[in-house]
Amino acid sequence: MDFVEQVKSSVNIVHVIGEYVGTLRKSGRDTYKGLCPFHQEKTPSFNVHESRQFFHCFGCHATGDVFKFIERIQGISFYEALKQLAERYGIPMPKRAQYSDDETRLRGALFAMHEIAQEHFRASLLGPAGAEARNYLERRGVSRETIEEFGLGYSLPSGRALLQLLEQRQFPAAQTVESGLIAQREGGGGYYDRFRNRLMFPIHSESGKIIAYGGRALSPDEKAKYLNSSETPIYKKSRTLYNLHRAKEAIRREGRAILVEGYMDAIGVSAAGVSEVVALCGTALSSHQIQALRGPMKEMHARRVVLNLDPDSAGDKAAERVIAPLLEEGMQIRIMELDGGLDPDEYCKDRGCDAYRVRLEQAKGYFYWLADSARKRFDMRTSEGKISALQFLLPAVQRISDRLERMTVANDVAGYLSVERSIVLDTFLRSAAGRNDNLVEMPKSSLRADERGLINVILSECEGREQILAELADMDIDALDSRRILQAALAAYAAGSPVTHDAVSGRLEENDRRALAEIAFAFDPACDEFGLEWGWKCLAQIKEKCGRQQAAQLKALIQQAERAGNLGEAMRLMGELNRLELANNRARRGVQ
Ligand code: UTP
Ligand code: MN
Repeated sequence: MDFVEQVKSSVNIVHVIGEYVGTLRKSGRDTYKGLCPFHQEKTPSFNVHESRQFFHCFGCHATGDVFKFIERIQGISFYEALKQLAERYGIPMPKRAQYSDDETRLRGALFAMHEIAQEHFRASLLGPAGAEARNYLERRGVSRETIEEFGLGYSLPSGRALLQLLEQRQFPAAQTVESGLIAQREGGGGYYDRFRNRLMFPIHSESGKIIAYGGRALSPDEKAKYLNSSETPIYKKSRTLYNLHRAKEAIRREGRAILVEGYMDAIGVSAAGVSEVVALCGTALSSHQIQALRGPMKEMHARRVVLNLDPDSAGDKAAERVIAPLLEEGMQIRIMELDGGLDPDEYCKDRGCDAYRVRLEQAKGYFYWLADSARKRFDMRTSEGKISALQFLLPAVQRISDRLERMTVANDVAGYLSVERSIVLDTFLRSAAGRNDNLVEMPKSSLRADERGLINVILSECEGREQILAELADMDIDALDSRRILQAALAAYAAGSPVTHDAVSGRLEENDRRALAEIAFAFDPACDEFGLEWGWKCLAQIKEKCGRQQAAQLKALIQQAERAGNLGEAMRLMGELNRLELANNRARRGVQ
C-alpha cells in the first residue's frame, strides 16, 4: 500500500475532525454532522462520512479527505498534513525527499528567514543603535525579562540591514520578498527592509515558530503606529492569535482565555502574572481563531473567554466582530471592564497585578452584563419596559448555537431581571411567530409557531398533556393548517392508545407525515423549557384565532341571510355570534 493510503487507513477522519469541530454529532449510522469550520453558520451543514472517510459541507461546498481537512484548517501543505498525521498515529515516514515539493521548500525558507531576522532584531535592540528603543521600553515599564521572554527586537533605520544579511545567507532576493520582511521598490529597482526604526514584536504560530512581525513606530511622526507583516504562505492573519503558543498551557490549566486587543496588552497582562492571555491584533475573530482557543479547553464547561477589550471598542463594534462569532461557536463569554478608561496594559502598570486579577475574577457573564445595560436603558417597573428589555436581549440569546444552553440562558436572564414567566412566554411566542427562522433549527416548518408548539407539547413527555388534548377535542379546528395532524393526534387519543410520534405519523398521508417530521426537528426551544405551560399558551392563542375566524364566518352568513330576507335565520345566527364573542373574550383574557 502506498504511504498516503497507509496513513489514511490508520486514521479515523471522525476523530481528527472532532478535535476541531466541537459541535460534531452522530447524525446517522455512518454519518456525523456539525457546524462547518470553514464558513460561519448557525445551523450545521457540515457532514462527515465515517466509512467513506470524507467530509462535505452543503453550505460552502468544502469537501475532501482527512489530509485536505488538516491542510485547510491549519493552512499547511499536503506534505505537512501527511507528516503530522503520520507522527500522531506513530506511522514511520519514508524519506522526506520523496514528498518534498516546491511549496514546502518555500515555507522552510520563510521559517529560516524569520529565524535570521529574529536574531538580527534582538541583537539590534541590545546594541548601540537600540538605545532609543530600550529607553522607550523602560519608560513603558517593560522589564529585561519581559523583553527576553517575548523576543522583542528593533529594526535598524538604514533599510538595508536585514536584506544584506539574507543575501549573505544566499536567499534569492525574489524569495526574500515572499517573507513579507523585504519589499521591492516600485518599478522594480532594488529591494529594502519593510521594517525600519521600529520596535519589533515577533508573532508565532501555535506551535511556536516565528511567522510574522508587528513593528511599532518609535517616532510619533510615523504615519502608521503599527506596521504588520503582509500575509505570506506561513502567515495568515485570520488564523493567528498573538501569544497563543505561550498562553496555551495556561489556557488549558485555567480553562479560560483572556482576549485583549494589542501586543502591548498581551505582554503587560502576561507580565502581571496572568498567562492565559492572547491578543486579537485589530482583526475580527474568525472561527479558526476560536477553534485554536478551544483546542486546549477540552472540557465543555470550561470554554470560557474573558473579553478585556480597549474601552473605546467595547461597544457595538466589538459585539459584531468578537462576541457574535464566540456565541455561535458555543463559547461562554465574560466581560471585563476596567475603570479609568485604561487599557489592560496601562491598568496593570497603573493599578498593579493584584488589582487586575481582582477585576478579572469579577468579570461578569456576558448575558448578565447585557441585562445590566438593558436595565439602564428600559424602565423595568413597567411591563412594556420588561418586554423591551427581553427583546433587546433576545437576538444575542438566539446566537447561542446549543439549544439547551440557549434556553438556560434565556431563563436565567429573565430571572435576573425579575421578569415574570408570562412575559417571557409572550415575548418568545411573539418573536417565534414573527421571525420563524431565528428560534427554529433546520429544517424549517411552514407552520405557525403556536400550532407547532402545540403539536410538540402534545407529542412530548409532558405530564398533563392529556388535558390539552381533551380541551382540543372540544374545539373546532377545521380552519387550522395543522388540522390533519391534530385530528390524527385526537384520533389516537380517542382510541385510547398513547399519543406518540408513531401513532400520529401512522394516521397521516405522506405530505402531512413530512410536515410532522419537520415539526419534530424544527422543535421550538420554548417547548423544551416551558413544557405544559407552553402548550396551554399555544392552545389559548389558537383558540382565539379559531374563534375570530368563526366569528368572521358567522358575520358573512348573517349578511347573506339578511340580504335574502331570511330574518329568522339572521336572528338565530346573531345569537350564535353573541355566544361566540363572549367565549372569545373569555379566551382572550386567558391569553393575557
Ligand atoms: P493599540 O493602538 O491599542 O496598540 O492597537 P497597543 O498594542 O495597545 O500598543 P500601544 O499600547 O499603543 O503601544 C491594538 C492592536 O491593533 C493593531 C496592533 O496589532 C495593535 O497591537 N494595530 C493598531 C495595527 O495593526 N495597526 C495600527 O496602526 C494600530
Ligand atoms: Mn493600547
